[in-house]
Amino acid sequence: MERTSIRLGGVELGSSIMNASGPRSAERGEIFELGAVHGGALVFKSCNVAGLEAPDNLKNRGVEHFAAIARELTARGKKVIGSVVGATEDEFIAVATTLDRAGVSIVELNLADDYVAKSVAPFASFERLKSLLGRVRGETSCVLAVKVPPNAPFEPRAIADLFKATRIAIVVCANDLPKDLEIDIAAATVTGKPRVLSQTHAYFRESENLLDVVAVGGINTGRDAYIAHLTGAKASQVGSALIKEGAGALGRIDRELDSMLAERGHQSVSEIVGQLRFSES
Ligand SMILES: Cc1cc2nc3c(=O)[nH]c(=O)nc-3n(C[C@H](O)[C@H](O)[C@H](O)COP(=O)(O)O)c2cc1C
Repeated sequence: MERTSIRLGGVELGSSIMNASGPRSAERGEIFELGAVHGGALVFKSCNVAGLEAPDNLKNRGVEHFAAIARELTARGKKVIGSVVGATEDEFIAVATTLDRAGVSIVELNLADDYVAKSVAPFASFERLKSLLGRVRGETSCVLAVKVPPNAPFEPRAIADLFKATRIAIVVCANDLPKDLEIDIAAATVTGKPRVLSQTHAYFRESENLLDVVAVGGINTGRDAYIAHLTGAKASQVGSALIKEGAGALGRIDRELDSMLAERGHQSVSEIVGQLRFSES
């Protein structure tokens, strides 16, 4: 087993590093390029039923485009994560079921985007969120993930409990650590009183290991990924570094993470997940 491989939502992945939905994940060529250079999961850009020309950040060719790519990739043994947006609950269900039938391992519901907040408004009430998740769960058989907004109006504990109840296995969270975080990587300690350091950390603490947490945001190096793992992430998603550096960023970050694990005598990245402690001196 490779040191950076991990089980996420029960799915075996070749690496805990993957691309974030969006950058380099909309067109067939760029998705295949990612797959050629990296053994981890491939995350698709968010898609809706018919495709979108606007907003700019959600431009996509529609779910059938991604379903065709998913069929090709899964036939080659690749692990694919489809990402869903929609303007209605019905659209979410239509997109999720199409991706599920095309063979993706995981469907990620993108509830973090403004487009979704302004249409479906899944966080407008707890009942609304429960209804959406319950309906998607009822219609799909794949593993489900939810990308949560940074400013969700409910406590992480309440959301984590709802996810458990509706069999959502994975929560994709912001890796919004403070810039001035004083961390001793070798000792896996942070200076100061025990506190919540990021959304990733909050969901890790509140979900009591019943949810797998994925960190997204600011993962540019193996060190960033290592710290995200210490705060509870089982996997990390890479966005901006892919735009700046190209597909090779995933392999570089994976190799840097692998070296850091090896230097500290770890056989598997799972040994460091959630291991961060606080030192009050
Ligand atoms: C150009 C661009 C397009 C994006 N498109 C999507 C998308 O379709 N779905 C999604 O969930 N997130 C999307 N995102 C957000 C990324 O997945 C990620 O959360 C964000 O870039 C933070 O990670 P980073 O700091 O590594 O860039 C997009 C980001 C960028 C920069």
